[in-house]
Amino acid sequence: MKIAFVGKGGSGKTTLSSLFIRHLATTGAPVVAVDADINQHLGPALGLDEAEAAALPAMGERLPLIKDYLRGSNPRIASIETMIKTTPPGDGSRLLRVREDNPVFDACARPVELEGGAVRLMVTGPFTDADLGVACYHSKTGAVELCLNHLVDGPDEYVVVDMTAGSDSFASGMFTRFDITFLVAEPTRKGVSVYRQYKEYARDFGVALKVVGNKVQGQDDLDFLRAEVGDDLLITVGHSNWVRALEKGRPPRFELLEDANRRALSRLQSAVDATYELRDWERYTHQMVHFHLKNARSWGNERTGADLAAQVDPSFVLGESVAATA
Ligand SMILES: Nc1ncnc2c1ncn2[C@@H]1O[C@H](COP(=O)(O)OP(=O)(O)OP(=O)(O)O)[C@@H](O)[C@H]1O
Ligand SMILES: [Mg+2]
Repeated sequence: MKIAFVGKGGSGKTTLSSLFIRHLATTGAPVVAVDADINQHLGPALGLDEAEAAALPAMGERLPLIKDYLRGSNPRIASIETMIKTTPPGDGSRLLRVREDNPVFDACARPVELEGGAVRLMVTGPFTDADLGVACYHSKTGAVELCLNHLVDGPDEYVVVDMTAGSDSFASGMFTRFDITFLVAEPTRKGVSVYRQYKEYARDFGVALKVVGNKVQGQDDLDFLRAEVGDDLLITVGHSNWVRALEKGRPPRFELLEDANRRALSRLQSAVDATYELRDWERYTHQMVHFHLKNARSWGNERTGADLAAQVDPSFVLGESVAATA
């Protein structure tokens, strides 16, 4: 199950992603945690100290390895130089599975001990001014998008991505790569305006979008969110002293998280799990092709000097039953 946390800067994406990841870890489910935000904070939120977080391998720096592995023996992709972040898998491509070991996880994922289990943490790497200037070709989240487009995940296994709600994810199609998207919103006009913008993009692509109200205090906050987002409001989270203690570097045991917040995390999981039966791998594949052709036309063909539309394998449909390529 692929889950994104998006929202305005400072709304609580990283906090809620990390709490949800901890919650999943307590269930014993396999979890891959991905930090795809401009501000890389997921590692520390999962309890890593500064040195450990700084030592995490950056996916953005391992793009050649990622591309080389995923390309496999796909004859439609001539070289990794012509493989862009939207290049879809086809016959001969290698796919990723949550529970397996593979060279991509070996290079980019690190185990983090959590709540008696271990999750795999992957990070895009910190963004620099140079990344922001040339958002398309060099965007670090491109590595995440490539991986999501080659991932065949089943129920009861989770990939949780801490992401920004920025325009980069709309241009590339990243925002369509999830079973469900949790938009974290504080009860403020700004928080809600990010929701409206997201909703607008999401509508045409059938993106399952749910709002998680954060830092909600009292009835007035709740009424505000209800009035602004209606039925899209899934749950609200209040101020958490557990989170405050974590911020002070004194993380209490997870079972001491406030009851209401624990219930909110369970509610998030049931919302995620309920989307499984809505999954449509054909639509998922169709959308990645749509965004690939769009990116090919707008910059990819010119940048690589190749006709990237030819990378599309018309008979290929991604799915859990696609046979593994050796
Ligand atoms: N429910 C909560 N209770 C207490 N503190 C919270 C809560 N949610 C978020 N915070 C605090 O608010 C601050 C911002 O949260 P967080 O870093 O998760 O936001 P973000 O959306 O990931 O921000 P950025 O856009 O900078 O990545 C942090 O100091 C965090 O500890
Ligand atoms: Mg964050």
